[in-house]
Amino acid sequence: MNKIGFIGAGNVTRAIITGMVKNKFDISNIYVNSKSNESKEKLSVDLLVNCAKNNKEIISKCKYVFFAIKSHHYNKVIKEIKPYVRENQILISLAPSFTTEEFKDLLGNNIKVVRAMPNIPAYVGEGMTGISFSEDNYSSEDKNEIITIFNSFGQVEILEEEYMDTIVSISGSAPAYVYIMIEAMADAGVLTGLPRKMSYRLASQAVMGAAKMVKETGMHPGELKDAVCSPGGTTIEAVKVLEDRGFRSALIESMLACYNKAKNMKK
Ligand SMILES: NC(=O)c1ccc[n+]([C@@H]2O[C@H](COP(=O)([O-])OP(=O)(O)OC[C@H]3O[C@@H](n4cnc5c(N)ncnc54)[C@H](OP(=O)(O)O)[C@@H]3O)[C@@H](O)[C@H]2O)c1
Repeated sequence: MNKIGFIGAGNVTRAIITGMVKNKFDISNIYVNSKSNESKEKLSVDLLVNCAKNNKEIISKCKYVFFAIKSHHYNKVIKEIKPYVRENQILISLAPSFTTEEFKDLLGNNIKVVRAMPNIPAYVGEGMTGISFSEDNYSSEDKNEIITIFNSFGQVEILEEEYMDTIVSISGSAPAYVYIMIEAMADAGVLTGLPRKMSYRLASQAVMGAAKMVKETGMHPGELKDAVCSPGGTTIEAVKVLEDRGFRSALIESMLACYNKAKNMKK
């Protein structure tokens, strides 16, 4: 595997590399850099990755370079690395709003830029990443290597760049919605007498199991819901309250808000 560099050593870099370690991916060829020394040094101590001196070292050493920085830092960092970028390199952009066209405008058209939107469950090797390869000609070896990198911390969907804002709302930000749901379920468990930790264990396993049923049976989620609701039973009582309180529309509206924010994010 060619060398992999990370510009940025924050939440997403830590999640990705931790997931790689969990899934036994060889991380000896990974280099990280951050703005401060503290973040990269901590990552290097915790996960045994190589600490780069600066962004120039990342670009000079690594074939695959993750842009794991906030979008408002892109302009500055792209200008900084521009003199050292080589044509056989592949830059992987993780920011929601920065298009490959904007990237190439700053860097030059002959540079290959992949856009990717991972999510935080990468941390436990269960990430979901949407990847869009730009129009560039990737060799099948490069493409396979990129997919292998992303598969080392979860699942991958390859799609056109126009869908990247949707990916932000359906999987990138989705862990937050699910965490709120698990927290609320556990609160209800506590309210009705269960210990807090047991409530979290029960609620999170129920969410994980239900998600696995959707994935593994291929059944429609509505059909699975119907099968849990016996006539005149307890579950349909809960479902009625969720419908009365607008659970579905709250989710749809919140995801639309997320999508619009991703689309119109300031750089
Ligand atoms: N978090 C998520 O769930 C998630 C999911 C998908 C995509 N993303 C995207 O991934 C990107 C990173 O997100 P994050 O959550 O990891 O952000 P973060 O925790 O704030 O980390 C940002 C990192 O960028 C570093 N940085 C800032 N300026 C730099 C420079 N000039 N040179 C090198 N490093 C620099 C910071 O260094 P210091 O630590 O020294 O300040 C920090 O390590 C964002 O664009 C975000 O939208 C995030």
